[in-house]
Amino acid sequence: MGKTRICAATPAHAAAIGALQGLVFPAPWAPAAIAKLLGGEPGFGHLAFADGAAIAAGEDTPLGFVLCRAAGGEAEILSLGVGMEARGQGVGGRLLEAAAEGAQRRGAQALYLEVSVANLDALALYRRHGFVEVGARARYYRAEDSPKGGRAEDAHILCRTF
Ligand SMILES: CC(C)(COP(=O)(O)OP(=O)(O)OC[C@H]1O[C@@H](n2cnc3c(N)ncnc32)[C@H](O)[C@@H]1OP(=O)(O)O)[C@@H](O)C(=O)NCCC(=O)NCCS
Repeated sequence: MGKTRICAATPAHAAAIGALQGLVFPAPWAPAAIAKLLGGEPGFGHLAFADGAAIAAGEDTPLGFVLCRAAGGEAEILSLGVGMEARGQGVGGRLLEAAAEGAQRRGAQALYLEVSVANLDALALYRRHGFVEVGARARYYRAEDSPKGGRAEDAHILCRTF
């Protein structure tokens, strides 16, 4: 893969993010919900694009996305995904770091996320990027929403502090 660029997501990217989210998760958000999140405080997000992609226009599908929200000194990663063909090349890690920077810029002292106990790849990535377990949610993911599919899964609550 060529160079990857990370940029801030805007409402113009909502349809492209929704399309990629639909490839990564069984239950993507409606583009209108993504556009609303990215339309102003407290939502924000970042995208990874292959070099040369039409970034501002929102026409090209990103390699990966992260959607977040920050308020009251805390931030949360709501959704993170990287397309199959772009995985294992550091894109997810760069999006995580962009989310952490965005959270700090918005005054957050902590960045939270939920991850299925069965999602070992994502757990390893988060731990390498400074997240630690601070809690658990039983049967947090409905069977049909799980990236792995199949059955309801418990979630770890992870947190990285700044
Ligand atoms: C979890 C997810 C976002 C990770 O994205 P990714 O782009 O593959 O993440 P990274 O490439 O940064 O890191 C993953 C692996 O690639 C390795 N890697 C990182 N940079 C690399 C590089 N330049 N070259 C080769 N490998 C690299 C990492 O070491 C890591 O491997 P390891 O876990 O064996 O140590 C992606 O797998 C995904 O979208 N999964 C489905 C949706 C999901 O589960 N989202 C999270 C829900 S909470």
